Amino acid sequence: LGDIPSGPLVGAVDQGTSSTRFVVFAANTGEIITYHQEEVPRVYPRSGWVEQDPAVLYQSVIICIEKVVDNLRLLNVDPADIKALGITNQRETTIVWDKTTGEPITNAIVWLDARTASTVEEILSETPGQDKEYLKDICGLPISTYFSALKLRWLLDNVKEVQEVAARGDLLFGTVDTWLLWNLTGGVNGGLHMTDVTNASCTMLMNISTLQWDPYLCKFFGIPMSILPEIRSSSEIYGYIGRGPLAGVPISGVLGDQQAALLGQMCLSPGQAKNTYGTGCFLLYNTGNEIVQSSNGLLTTVGYKLGRNAPAVYALEGSIAIAGAAVRWLRDNLKIIKSSSDMESLVTSVKDSGGVYFVPAFSGLYAPYWRSDARGTICGLTQASTGAHIARAALEAVCFQTREILESMQKDSGIKLNRLQVDGGMARNNTLLQLQADLAGVPVVRPSMTETTALGVAMAAGAAEGISVWELSRLRPVSTDGFKPTILPDERERRYKKWCKAIDRCMDWES
Ligand code: G3P
Repeated sequence: LGDIPSGPLVGAVDQGTSSTRFVVFAANTGEIITYHQEEVPRVYPRSGWVEQDPAVLYQSVIICIEKVVDNLRLLNVDPADIKALGITNQRETTIVWDKTTGEPITNAIVWLDARTASTVEEILSETPGQDKEYLKDICGLPISTYFSALKLRWLLDNVKEVQEVAARGDLLFGTVDTWLLWNLTGGVNGGLHMTDVTNASCTMLMNISTLQWDPYLCKFFGIPMSILPEIRSSSEIYGYIGRGPLAGVPISGVLGDQQAALLGQMCLSPGQAKNTYGTGCFLLYNTGNEIVQSSNGLLTTVGYKLGRNAPAVYALEGSIAIAGAAVRWLRDNLKIIKSSSDMESLVTSVKDSGGVYFVPAFSGLYAPYWRSDARGTICGLTQASTGAHIARAALEAVCFQTREILESMQKDSGIKLNRLQVDGGMARNNTLLQLQADLAGVPVVRPSMTETTALGVAMAAGAAEGISVWELSRLRPVSTDGFKPTILPDERERRYKKWCKAIDRCMDWES
């Protein structure tokens, strides 16, 4: 076997907004044995709408699993060594299907989709004080286009077939984890209709204290409770894969992708935080067993619950809608780069952003503003501005927004982070991380192993009761690259003030 560690393996499906991965880890060492990645397309049928085909998402998982099994055989590793499988996923994305046919009724409404802006306005107009934080004590979240409850309401109001299938009693709702789990465990032939507490906490229908669907929230949004999946912990045996090369392997870990990264970055103690730069950017701060309600625009969410009888660990979350999606926009719409990997050479071709500020509020602004009326803005253009300046400003936008979230977290917790642990595809870009350290004034550290999302759910799956091939207490020291702030505080504040001006200019655009 050469360098390949022997012993039990754990597989992790990571279904994100841009791609699907299947990663196989050695449970004894946490090392990656092999993986496969498939890009997944998004559909933009109208301005502000973002959809994905649920069948394509599921198919991408099957392709990744098959390729990885082939890789294992080439490596002389027996796929039967995979003792458990975990699922981690893009959160909030909403899927409805007919349980008698197994067919999705419409495309998935992706978390980024802003079609429910008018639904939010209608709901707010009937909410006491028109207060978007009206339900926050129950679910930890503001009323926003982001969450599944609004998307599900829209489907029930606007799609005739959804109404018909619901009237027949055959409608099932799920986030991406639920859809994959139902299909992998048999689909119409007895597929399991379940989700985990972390995914459920992002729907706006779960009570953050009881960790169950909340009758008041379901009534508030007009969602029949019968279509909702059963909520389980993040680490327990859910069921078994029904067919294919991994038939019979237990599925024993489910986590939303941002929560999985919290675990994979070993942020297991209160006060530890991670920032993941993916399609969006999400900063999660572990608050332990305490539910901390933010007064500064952050979400309260479940970080993880590792076992049926384990207590839930909570987190404060700062969500930024557009991070890597801005790079994709520069590539696909402005065509100033050919591939995302060209970004770093382009932005280092200029010494700064030349006074250009870019707020990529394509579908509104999430934390800490929660404004669906905001739209993208590029300010400070001069005759000398180039694509490189705009590209650099796109990276700086993620960094400024991360600073805003760090400030909110500091106000809510009273603690200043002494370092920012980062991961995600965009975090491979050294220039981004140096800008982040400079613009937020905090040291930034990146683990050498960047598949932290997959690692987190592999840990949850491998440590589940009845599997126990992975000991969570046996934490490995994570080696890191570090980036220290290099600019002076005056300079940092001067640039931040300009950013705040740009933010002001993007508000109220759609109202
Ligand atoms: O809340 C949405 C988030 O889970 C999406 O993650 O990695 O696809 O940007 P990602």
